[in-house]
Amino acid sequence: MLWHLAQEKDLVILGDNDDVLPCFPDESFQLIYIDPPFNTGKLQQRVTLRTEQAESGERIGFQGKRYRATRISTIAYRDVFDDYLSYIEPKLRQAHRLLNPSGTLYFHIDYREAHYCKVLLDSIFGRECFLNEIIWAYDYGGRPRDRWPAKHDTILVYVKNMGKHFFDQEAVDRIPYMAPGLVTPEKAARGKVPTDVWWHTIVPTNGREKTAYPTQKPEGILRRIIQASSRPGDWVLDFFAGSGTTGAVAQQLGRRFVLIDNNPEAIRVMHRRLRPNNLAFVDSAGRSLSTLESPTGHLSFAQKSLEELTYGC
Ligand SMILES: C[S@@+](CC[C@H](N)C(=O)[O-])C[C@H]1O[C@@H](n2cnc3c(N)ncnc32)[C@H](O)[C@@H]1O
Repeated sequence: MLWHLAQEKDLVILGDNDDVLPCFPDESFQLIYIDPPFNTGKLQQRVTLRTEQAESGERIGFQGKRYRATRISTIAYRDVFDDYLSYIEPKLRQAHRLLNPSGTLYFHIDYREAHYCKVLLDSIFGRECFLNEIIWAYDYGGRPRDRWPAKHDTILVYVKNMGKHFFDQEAVDRIPYMAPGLVTPEKAARGKVPTDVWWHTIVPTNGREKTAYPTQKPEGILRRIIQASSRPGDWVLDFFAGSGTTGAVAQQLGRRFVLIDNNPEAIRVMHRRLRPNNLAFVDSAGRSLSTLESPTGHLSFAQKSLEELTYGC
């Protein structure tokens, strides 16, 4: 149902990604960017689900195929690290399934979890499919005195098939050389292709793109990712969509997209932010949310679904 809807329009889906992702067929997306919550010790998603195709399964996915979701309990929640990996693993397995043969996953994470996630991703994609570790460096916020202030996030990049992956360096906006005097004037004027260390401001408090959604990422970061790893018309997926930065940039660059978030507030922000052309807001069963639009044009949701779905990241 959802994939059929997506043939018509780009989609923003209100729902839990564990429920929604099995609805899409294998190899549907060229590019997946995800920016999950970093510290999930208190989430309801402590429960780990493994989804397998099964005649007697209770979940119905693409083309009516049935899936059985097995609850895999972690014997003890000793610490956040154990919990985080069991929370994220089934979602990363879905990401691998959903990438097309030339596709790429960008996994945005902070320095505390990055190394554990790298090992997990190696086991899912294969070490040979690790493309890059991008460091996004910024300079904002508090500065503790007892250590080096942590001012970067990590983006782990994996391809579905190393060597067959799509990567267009020429399509990426160039940046100024740090020492332009060391290169020819022509080169200095043209700028250089970014390396794997990206200096970029956070979203400015009063800037054009600010939505007030916590943890919103800058469009400039998504712009590079989408330019390099997809072509116009390709499918892009973000299943931790938040304020919809991936969708906003995909619209600017002419990519098709599916965005998923289980927080109604995120859906409201995306409704305000994204251009309405060729775009539908639906729940995980594919029912249109526009029927719930208020006279002011803002999406509203039944109290029940708010209680069921409210989540703070
Ligand atoms: C760090 S924020 C993403 C921010 C986003 N990159 C942006 O630029 O605004 C993570 C998002 O994941 C959503 N989320 C967390 N668990 C989820 C789940 N199981 N299914 C769908 N969305 C989820 C949260 O509601 C939150 O909006």
